[in-house]
Amino acid sequence: MCGIVGIIGNKPAAPRLLEGLKRLEYRGYDSAGIATLENGHLDRRRASGKLFNLEAAQEADPLNGPIGIGHTRWASHGAPTVKNAHPIAAGTVAVVHNGIIENFLDLKSELEGHGKIFDTDTDTEVVAQLVAREIENGATPKQAVGTVLPRLEGAFALVFLFDGDTQTLIGARKGSPLALGKGEGEMYLGSDAIALAPLTSQVIYLEEGDWVVLSHTGHEIFDLTGAPVQRPWQQTSAYALLIDKGNHRNFMVKEIFDQPEVIGHTFANYIDLASRTVKQDALKVEFANLERLTVCACGTAFYAGMAAKYWFEKYARLPVDVDIASEFRYREAPLDKNGLALFISQSGETADTLAALQYCRDNGQKIASIVNVQESTIARDSDMIIPTFAGPEVGVASTKAFTCQLTVLACLAIAAGRARGHLTSAQEIALVSSLIGVPRHVADITNRSDEIEGVAKRIITARDILFLGRGINYPIALEGALKLKEISYIHAEGYAAGELKHGPIALVDDNVPVIIVAPRDNLFEKTVSNMQEVAARGGQIIMITDADEREGIGTELFDLIHVPKADAFINPLLYAIPVQLLAYHAAVLLGTDVDQPRNLAKSVTIE
Ligand code: G6P
Repeated sequence: MCGIVGIIGNKPAAPRLLEGLKRLEYRGYDSAGIATLENGHLDRRRASGKLFNLEAAQEADPLNGPIGIGHTRWASHGAPTVKNAHPIAAGTVAVVHNGIIENFLDLKSELEGHGKIFDTDTDTEVVAQLVAREIENGATPKQAVGTVLPRLEGAFALVFLFDGDTQTLIGARKGSPLALGKGEGEMYLGSDAIALAPLTSQVIYLEEGDWVVLSHTGHEIFDLTGAPVQRPWQQTSAYALLIDKGNHRNFMVKEIFDQPEVIGHTFANYIDLASRTVKQDALKVEFANLERLTVCACGTAFYAGMAAKYWFEKYARLPVDVDIASEFRYREAPLDKNGLALFISQSGETADTLAALQYCRDNGQKIASIVNVQESTIARDSDMIIPTFAGPEVGVASTKAFTCQLTVLACLAIAAGRARGHLTSAQEIALVSSLIGVPRHVADITNRSDEIEGVAKRIITARDILFLGRGINYPIALEGALKLKEISYIHAEGYAAGELKHGPIALVDDNVPVIIVAPRDNLFEKTVSNMQEVAARGGQIIMITDADEREGIGTELFDLIHVPKADAFINPLLYAIPVQLLAYHAAVLLGTDVDQPRNLAKSVTIE
């Protein structure tokens, strides 16, 4: 996750860019840079390390131009050196970038094939080079960006500045946030409204796929297809600026929409994007000789642990015990000598998880923890911390912390598979490549939030709802039921689809929606046959699947939520999103307090 800011103004941009970057430093701080037009010509100041190094560089040799872009970096491709610091320049173009360009290797070899030389190790440079090449071939900046954007795969936000053009700044968003703001004869761009707060309180939050061309006094927004679109101006509130809710009506949905960005930010810590391998040293855990892994957590974090059991057992042949912390702490489980216990917690303060950790420590286990709050008690009490980078999660019902936990666990499972000799290098590359595609697929799903709202409208009158899944999608069914219960107060149960016939089928009649999490994986046919059992009893089947329109389903569905086709490895990360959105929309339609549902707490520090 990086922070970006841009100004097309009428007084020196540099001090104001630096002020914006300070407010974005929470997004990354391993290098920073600014570029401005000095008498119409591009010039840059960049520095590795924290922002004060950039401030010193600017003070020593000031930039004075009124148009500029700035960036605070959290390195993903390439070390945090000055060379790799943004803005990245090529020809007449400078660009700042947040996110990942998935197909950068293909684009880079295409450009190298045409004799282009690369100065940096970043994925960003392909964007600068592609746009610069269009301009060399006679395109205007607007035409050049419009031609290049459809070629970029991934989830990202970009802001461009052009040598010799004092009238244009261009921004684009796809999966990562970008807002524009207006002042007196000036326009601004920033990763969030917090960055723009000293400049303006009038903002437009760009929507997925939008790109915008700014002049001093105006803007033109285009959507994914290149068609001009209008987006509304909004007044940012003081509260929104403490933790920016963007244009979302509450934190939970904002956090659902944050997922493409924070999942990418999380895996970028643990995988090398260029070689498509896991960083064994960043993951810290010694898996090679481990005989068993004990996983403990509560609530949503427990379901992340359950999903991980499938990954560890399949890809690393590592036996895993996974338990709810409040049960584990009292059941006097015998633990292997020198074993490893893994705790998963967003807050790092959950009392039951902490007590289970203590039990494991007292019984000679090494302690690893996956936490979102790195200063938390669980983190401090662990031998190894493997953080998620979800950012602050405000909504009580966990969403982005869950998918970031899954992301870390997926990386750990690949690392374990390699260390234990059960995955080849080629398999590792294939799994990591599928993980890199997750932010893009997640953005595709969040873009269809309105369709999922349509499905939610059809289930909110139900008294009971069943969620079914098999294999690694079973924990996702459990999470779907938990989310719905937590925030809409509709009674929901998650079941292993094969277990339906042993009890819950008695609940099914024509008033019971049955939501089936069914990717087209090796268990699809089995899940479909469980679905037929529901259909035969009149249940209202809602299928969440990547199967083509009713392909192989052979029964009338009540509704269908479509998920992009992907490698089965990443399915839990994708199928988590529609169940979150379904719960969210159901809760909004029922008028509950989505962010602070009754009787619950974000962090449960009592037994
Ligand atoms: C509470 C929250 C849940 C969360 C659980 C575990 O019940 O409402 O959303 O999953 O605690 O919290 P932790 O901070 O340990 O992940």
